[in-house]
Amino acid sequence: MSHRLAVLVSGTGRHLENLAELSRDPAADLDAEIGVVISNRPGVGALDRAARFELRAEVLEGAEAESDETYGRRVFEVIRDAEADTVVLAGFLKKLWIPEDFAGRVINIHPSLLPAFGGKGYYGMRVHRAVLERGCQVTGCTVHLVDDVYDNGPILHQRWCEVHPGDSAEALAARVFEEELLALPEALRRFWRR
Ligand code: GAR
Repeated sequence: MSHRLAVLVSGTGRHLENLAELSRDPAADLDAEIGVVISNRPGVGALDRAARFELRAEVLEGAEAESDETYGRRVFEVIRDAEADTVVLAGFLKKLWIPEDFAGRVINIHPSLLPAFGGKGYYGMRVHRAVLERGCQVTGCTVHLVDDVYDNGPILHQRWCEVHPGDSAEALAARVFEEELLALPEALRRFWRR
């Protein structure tokens, strides 16, 4: 059975592009199509990438006084309208309230080996800087189910890589990202086969 993804983004959209490419390549064995892309920020690179792949894309910015739940309800209305069955947070940096009918169907990718370097404030380059400051010798990425606590839900899949002496945060981020590009589709294949 083919799955329909909602991909939520806030930034560059390299994961979105990877998923869009894999979902169109029969040899990639990713039985999925992207039903909708939702960004909480206008003008981000991910929206350009969505346009290039001719994907339906919506911008849903959180209003200042809006609660997480009210925002989440708006987001999941769009997700239901797109008939998506699985939600991927691919660099989506806003807290997402999840309604009951989507519990256990929202997946996040995080650029560290959780539970290390997760939680509030740990996103993007901040994670890699913290890994270097702490003197870690290995790092990696984690794909996990999202629950109502940041970076907390059950782990589906991890991939790791070495930290090299003298690494800059940028060099480390690039090495981790190579693993991320493999980890997310691997996790989706596993998740759907459960
Ligand atoms: C990825 O490195 C992802 O792991 C990270 O944001 C980047 C998104 O890149 N996510 C987090 O830090 C979540 N806490 P992309 O927009 O180019 O796909």
